[in-house]
Amino acid sequence: MANVIVRSANPSDLARVAEIHQDAFPATLTTRLGRRFVKAYYGEHADQDGARLLVATCGGTVEGFAIVVSPSAEEKASKRLRWLMLVSAVPRITAWPVLVRRTIETVRKARQRSRTGRGSSSTRANSLGPVVHSKLMNIAVAGSRQGQGVGTALLSSPLLTTPGSEGAHIEAIVDPRNGPSRALFRTMGWNELDNVRFIHFVERADDSSDRD
Ligand SMILES: CC(C)(COP(=O)(O)OP(=O)(O)OC[C@H]1O[C@@H](n2cnc3c(N)ncnc32)[C@H](O)[C@@H]1OP(=O)(O)O)[C@@H](O)C(=O)NCCC(=O)NCCS
Repeated sequence: MANVIVRSANPSDLARVAEIHQDAFPATLTTRLGRRFVKAYYGEHADQDGARLLVATCGGTVEGFAIVVSPSAEEKASKRLRWLMLVSAVPRITAWPVLVRRTIETVRKARQRSRTGRGSSSTRANSLGPVVHSKLMNIAVAGSRQGQGVGTALLSSPLLTTPGSEGAHIEAIVDPRNGPSRALFRTMGWNELDNVRFIHFVERADDSSDRD
């Protein structure tokens, strides 16, 4: 297993984070919008009060990252990224269909929320599980470092919290076809709510009670 150090990211890590993101998620809209957008995406999210971007280094090189965000931090970052998203999409024709699909989906969800008067899935209590405080927006490890414990180090880090999330749950949405990712969350003891959602209870420093 590699000797991994996990720390909070600083602005000089963003280029490497963007590189790892683009390798790990080649088909996503964010990746299609280009390196500059991906850097801004993580920079804007990490800049918010209710967010934390962690990097894992091996021998001083960033080899993986994880980001946790509260619903309000995500909303603020999305608003700030809206224009850059549109500007970045203009010259990238392959991003258009995904962008249109995503916009329709966002509008549909917003309408549904205003009709039902319910909050986002990140804050809602429902029959499938407890109230979730924040979400693990992404976790990724550089291809050449996968399978060497970097993902485990990121998920084990006590820094993997957002202010106020102690004593609450963090949620991760996982593509059901992503075997390695699902295996990672299972191995790390996250609870599988259904075939896409995993949650993790963040202990308070003084909380000695056992929870599964
Ligand atoms: C998912 C990911 C972050 C795992 O990181 P990693 O550093 O490779 O994981 P680790 O080496 O710490 O492995 C931890 C556990 O995950 C599981 N795992 C990791 N890679 C796996 C693979 N290729 N196949 C099956 N299980 C795998 C195993 O259970 C492993 O535990 P074990 O070594 O005791 O068997 C990494 O594969 C990745 O970056 N994938 C691409 C991006 C992605 O899909 N991110 C998740 C989005 S939700």
